[in-house]
Amino acid sequence: MSHITVTPLSPALGAEVSGIDLHRPIDIQAFSEIRSAWDQYLVLRFRGQQLSDPQLLALSRQFGELDPPGPNPYGKPFLSDFPEINVISNVKVDGQPIGNLGDGEAAWHCDMTYIDNPPRAALLHALELPQGGGDTYWSNMYLAYETLPTELKNKLAGRRVIHDATYNSAGIMRKGMKEINDPREAPGARHPLVIRHPDTDRPALFLGRRRNSYIIGMDLSESESLLDALWEHATRPEFTFRQEWQLHDLVLWDNRCTLHRRDAFDAVARRIMHRTQIKGTALVPGV
Ligand code: SIN
Repeated sequence: MSHITVTPLSPALGAEVSGIDLHRPIDIQAFSEIRSAWDQYLVLRFRGQQLSDPQLLALSRQFGELDPPGPNPYGKPFLSDFPEINVISNVKVDGQPIGNLGDGEAAWHCDMTYIDNPPRAALLHALELPQGGGDTYWSNMYLAYETLPTELKNKLAGRRVIHDATYNSAGIMRKGMKEINDPREAPGARHPLVIRHPDTDRPALFLGRRRNSYIIGMDLSESESLLDALWEHATRPEFTFRQEWQLHDLVLWDNRCTLHRRDAFDAVARRIMHRTQIKGTALVPGV
């Protein structure tokens, strides 16, 4: 018998799951309740879970096969013993970054949508935090799609979008990439603009990231203004949840029906997060 409690964290998405110890394998009943809560709330927060790297990996594997991080700007894994773990940090040791994304804002995005089968999920674990700043926000892309005016929805049907591989969400060029001046030439996967979520069967807006995005088959200027309108709509505050981190929080999110962004924080403070991802599948059109 499971004793987990699920408490919504915002009207749009996000819930806190308590009454579970993530150091141990999750039993079948609790796992099924977590899966249902995840489908309903898209982002789940578990507080007070101080996990070692092997424990984070073991936990993550319960949600599916791990998807290693994409190439970072420095060309080698941050943790040589655990290459499946991505480090998100501003800390430098001997002048070398120990992780990605620094201390600046990370713009709205979903992870690794520049590949054909983007990750279905990510788990982010807070190991060191600044006194303030560095909050992370998620936005609900089912809601974003459902609330679009019909006229705009009609324009999206059957459309695909280029998801640029050139830059990460801190605006740093990935290793081996070169500058893009025309989004129509951006390298990266082409996904439906509205996907059908593989688990819930619901349509969701699937935007990836704004920079160098392009709606295939449109004039560039038409694509730019439609994308601007969609991004403005998709990140409206009423569709979002704000995560104010506490030490040892573990947050699990669905990468296919949410966007996320992060606030900047004090450059002299230390922030260290370890992150894993779960492999996804190709995404099919939702409309
Ligand atoms: C990210 O995965 O984009 C980073 C989120 C964070 O640093 O809170």
